[in-house]
Amino acid sequence: MGNGALRGKVIVICVTGGIACYKSIGLVKQLKAFGAYVHVIMTEASKHLVDAKDFEKASGNEVQSSLFHPKINYAEYIKKNKPIKHISLSDAADLFLICPATANVIGKIANGIADDLLTTSITATIAPVLICPAMNVKMWKNPIVQENVKKLRKHNYHFVEPEYGELACGYKGVGRLAGSKKILDMVALLVKQRNDLKGKKVIVTAGATVEEIDPVRVITNKSSGKMGTNIAEQAFLRGADVLLLRGYSSIEPSYNIKEEKFTTVKDLFSKIKKNMQKTDIFIHAAAVSDFTIANRQDTKIKSNKELQLELAPAAKIFEKLKKMNKKMLLVGFKAEHDVPKSRLTASAYSILKKADADMVVANDVGKRGRGFDVDTNEVFIVDRNKKIQHIRLADKRIVADGILDAIISSIK
Ligand SMILES: Cc1cc2nc3c(=O)[nH]c(=O)nc-3n(C[C@H](O)[C@H](O)[C@H](O)COP(=O)(O)O)c2cc1C
Repeated sequence: MGNGALRGKVIVICVTGGIACYKSIGLVKQLKAFGAYVHVIMTEASKHLVDAKDFEKASGNEVQSSLFHPKINYAEYIKKNKPIKHISLSDAADLFLICPATANVIGKIANGIADDLLTTSITATIAPVLICPAMNVKMWKNPIVQENVKKLRKHNYHFVEPEYGELACGYKGVGRLAGSKKILDMVALLVKQRNDLKGKKVIVTAGATVEEIDPVRVITNKSSGKMGTNIAEQAFLRGADVLLLRGYSSIEPSYNIKEEKFTTVKDLFSKIKKNMQKTDIFIHAAAVSDFTIANRQDTKIKSNKELQLELAPAAKIFEKLKKMNKKMLLVGFKAEHDVPKSRLTASAYSILKKADADMVVANDVGKRGRGFDVDTNEVFIVDRNKKIQHIRLADKRIVADGILDAIISSIK
């Protein structure tokens, strides 16, 4: 991995109270050598273990530890409505690197605690956060620490896990801070990814459409919108200008992502048309009804007699998109139920051709842990050249990242 991605980028290194904290001085020097601007936050505990001056010398910047600046009269600022810059590092950072990360700081972040400069800055940032734990093997294996790591991974925090070896406390086991090359490579990768989609306008549709039978009854489907919303979140974190068109009952996105909610197929289509201009990438993950109600009633239907629903075929939105914007990259989804892989990918290719799309992501919702209303998915991405990429069963966030990787490599 080349470290050229680091030139001119702002990296905030957070040093916590672990024995390995002196090793971060070397990381600061290397990041500076790659052209990054480095700021250092130290916890009070870490200052017992390493001299802050060494970090100031290496970074060329004053080390910050305190959430409240001693020279600022906050009460006056608030009274006069002056802006207070207590989270300026959160906004400025291209990446936060917590290295070494104690069990304590992992636990605090995993539980939303923001009681010092470090944890407050982390809570307030949308920059990627890379955590490099280092601790005694028993601490690392502690089930609560492991649960916290798992929780943080689920919420988009990245890790370079500790390694096996001799530990400073005299034990042998997993707990040593990972090597600096591994950490720096990951820093460069995450910083590069963060800018992957800068300047690109991306529309993502997610969730289910809802067709009304009468003012109180509907037909819909089981889509939770998780896959599409995860894609929108990951695209946002990679710097894209994202608009999420989301079904009413689907999960809400994290972060401050622009969104509009849709109800019916017709409503979704009109919101697409309104926003379509200048779109670079369109990812159509919404589960759109194949039918609309032909005999919708304006008043609540009485429940004491038999009722025939008349269904009319709904507009095939996916097939109309490329005609509206020939230049954009169009990605669709195809769900099949319990079919062999060859049939799954063949039907994905067939809808790709019909829609003149660039990629179709196929998944088999008949298999356990895939598709509607679960947190995981396994997909096959089929492109115009019939090339198939497989993303193994994983959390939808990881699958979303894989889909974006495929999209980005196809536009390079
Ligand atoms: C000498 C010494 C070494 C320590 N090394 C570690 C360590 O390597 N990893 C760790 O998780 N905690 C370690 N601790 C415990 C932390 O310093 C302690 O949990 C502290 O509250 C962490 O605060 P912080 O996360 O705000 O920096 C050490 C404590 C001492 C006294």
